[in-house]
Amino acid sequence: MTDTMTVWRQRRYGSADAVRPETVPVPVPRAGEVLLQTDAVSLNSGDVHLMRGEPGLVRVALGARGPRIRGRGMDVAGTVLALGEGVTELAVGGAVVGAWRETLADRVVVPAKRLVRVPSRVTPAVAATLPIAGNTAVQTLDACRVGRGSRVLVAGAGGGVGTFLVQLAADRGAEVWATCGERAQPVLERFGAVRTFDYRALELGDLPRGRFDAVVDIAGEPPLTVLRDLLAPGGTAALVGGDGHPFFGPVGGILHSLVARGRFRPITSVAKTETTAQLVDLAASGRLTPHIERVFPLSQARAALAHVEAGRTVGKVVVVRDEILDV
Ligand SMILES: NC(=O)c1ccc[n+]([C@@H]2O[C@H](COP(=O)([O-])OP(=O)(O)OC[C@H]3O[C@@H](n4cnc5c(N)ncnc54)[C@H](OP(=O)(O)O)[C@@H]3O)[C@@H](O)[C@H]2O)c1
Repeated sequence: MTDTMTVWRQRRYGSADAVRPETVPVPVPRAGEVLLQTDAVSLNSGDVHLMRGEPGLVRVALGARGPRIRGRGMDVAGTVLALGEGVTELAVGGAVVGAWRETLADRVVVPAKRLVRVPSRVTPAVAATLPIAGNTAVQTLDACRVGRGSRVLVAGAGGGVGTFLVQLAADRGAEVWATCGERAQPVLERFGAVRTFDYRALELGDLPRGRFDAVVDIAGEPPLTVLRDLLAPGGTAALVGGDGHPFFGPVGGILHSLVARGRFRPITSVAKTETTAQLVDLAASGRLTPHIERVFPLSQARAALAHVEAGRTVGKVVVVRDEILDV
């Protein structure tokens, strides 16, 4: 092992071109932390929002000209290389997964409490897809109380969050309809959607009014009135995604939904280790299968970010340590 490592960082907000490899000393884990060898990192639209500093509100919170946390990457699956003082629940050589920061690097220090163990039958690439997109899907289904027999509509289901959401809703015994791009339709039908619609050929308002117990909006395009009209009595509409206003992002829609008398639930997900552990178990048992559209080596992390930035991903994009091919 060398004393230096590569981390993909940026100084200014911008497109993927702004992110470059830097060689830095390998950090030493402090009390409560572990040093990981990064095996796989999955990318999320959140990585692109931070990279571009969009919406503008991101810059107020995270840095005016460039992000204060300069390295990109949040989801990480890795192998424990060293333990900080007081870490007893993890062991050197163990496989783990979690969400933290600056994970697009060949090594990364992460608080132990942010990590869960991964059994050997779950590959690093699969494990890395789970924390952020999987937690968002679970927390959305919980917010809408989706269970056996629920009628669920997912608008914009083709990306990472949506492909998990469809599978997990079907696994709970819900009847799932989904809108997505044409390329995602066969994937979502394999994952349990009973009906899928190409969003370019459908007005959401043409679907049956009053039919759905849960309407999940990941695309962020339909007006709230359209979502509300699709709900059955007592149903809930969850607002998960979409770009929203150039500066305020989804904030306006969230405020609007909060005053719109109860039936809307804006989702702000947090990667919880208990939920990630449940997702790892589901993946290990074969009940949850991430759709990994493309795998990039870490040496091409910038190309991976550019791919996600283009916004056309079906399922997930994963970056793996260059030596790993076990996806
Ligand atoms: N609220 C939260 O806590 C939370 C957490 C995580 C993510 N999010 C948000 O959730 C959204 C999804 O993120 P993601 O990473 O899963 O996926 P993503 O990369 O944003 O999704 C890409 C997919 O969405 C499809 N798509 C784009 N516009 C669409 C539309 N109008 N209708 C239907 N499908 C559409 C694309 O299909 P085509 O290629 O055919 O266009 C592509 O397959 C983002 O807005 C993200 O910011 C929110």
